[in-house]
Amino acid sequence: PGRVRTHQLRALKERGERWPMLTSYDQYTAAIFDRAGIPVLLVGDSAANNVYGYGSTLPVTVDQLLPLVRAVVGATEQAMVVGDLPFGSYEEGPTQALRTAVRFMKETGCHAVKLEGGARCAPQIETITKAGIPLMAHIGFTPQSEHQLGGFRVQGRGDAAEQVLADAHAVAEAGAFAVVLEMVAGDVAKQVTHELPIPTIGIGAGVETDAQVLVWQDMAGLNTGAAPRFVKRYADLAGVLTEATTRYADEVRAGTFPAPEHSY
Ligand code: KIV
Ligand code: NA
Repeated sequence: PGRVRTHQLRALKERGERWPMLTSYDQYTAAIFDRAGIPVLLVGDSAANNVYGYGSTLPVTVDQLLPLVRAVVGATEQAMVVGDLPFGSYEEGPTQALRTAVRFMKETGCHAVKLEGGARCAPQIETITKAGIPLMAHIGFTPQSEHQLGGFRVQGRGDAAEQVLADAHAVAEAGAFAVVLEMVAGDVAKQVTHELPIPTIGIGAGVETDAQVLVWQDMAGLNTGAAPRFVKRYADLAGVLTEATTRYADEVRAGTFPAPEHSY
C-alpha cells in the first residue's frame, strides 16, 4: 500500500477515526512501530533528552538528528516519517527554515518536517509548504520556548485560550497538514479540533483531539524518571532490560555463559 500520505490523515479526521503517533529514533523501534501499524513516526528533537541525555531539547543540532531520521526512514515501509526541526534551525526566518527543511528531506528521505510555534512561525510554514514539503505544526506548550513560557505549564487556560485558538488557525492557514497540541486544556483542544480542517495531535491535550502522540520511551516504560501527568506506561521495558542484564552478568561471573552451544 505504500507510505501513509497527508490526505489519508485528513480522511481519518473526516471519518472521525482516531490514530496513534509515536516518536522513534532508531531502526529497531521504528520497524516494530511500523509493523504495529503506527501511521506516523516522529523523529523528535526529544532525541535531545531520550537519546543524547541532555536536560532539555535546546542543545540538539540538525547534524545530530539527521542520522536518526535516516535510520527510521530506512527501517520502515508504511509509516509517514516526520523530522523535527531543532531549536536554532528555523527561527531566523523563512529562508533559514526552508534551507533546514530541505536538508531534512534530501539527506534523510523523510516525508514531512515539524517545527514549534504558532502565528509567529506562519511565514516559515508558508515558505516550507509552498516548496512542496508537508509541515506539521506544534503549538500550546512548546519545549524549545520553555524559558520564555516559564517552565512546563498547561497552555490555553482562561484568557490564554484565545492565543491557542489564534495559533491553531494561523498554522492551518499557513499550510500545515496537522498540528500537535501539547499540554493544552482539554476544552480548548476540543474546540481547536472542531474548528480546524486539519488533524490535531494531542499530548497532554485530552481525548478530544484527532490523534495522540507520546515519546516511545515514556509509553514503553524505558524511561522510569518522573513523568508528566499525560504519560501512560504500557510496558516495563526498564524492568525487562534490568532483569536480562542482571542474569547475563550473573552467568558471566558464574562461568555458565557461554555454554557449549554458544562456543566454537
Ligand atoms: O520531540 C518530540 O518528541 C515532540 C512530540 C512530543 C510531539 O515534539
Ligand atoms: Na519536538
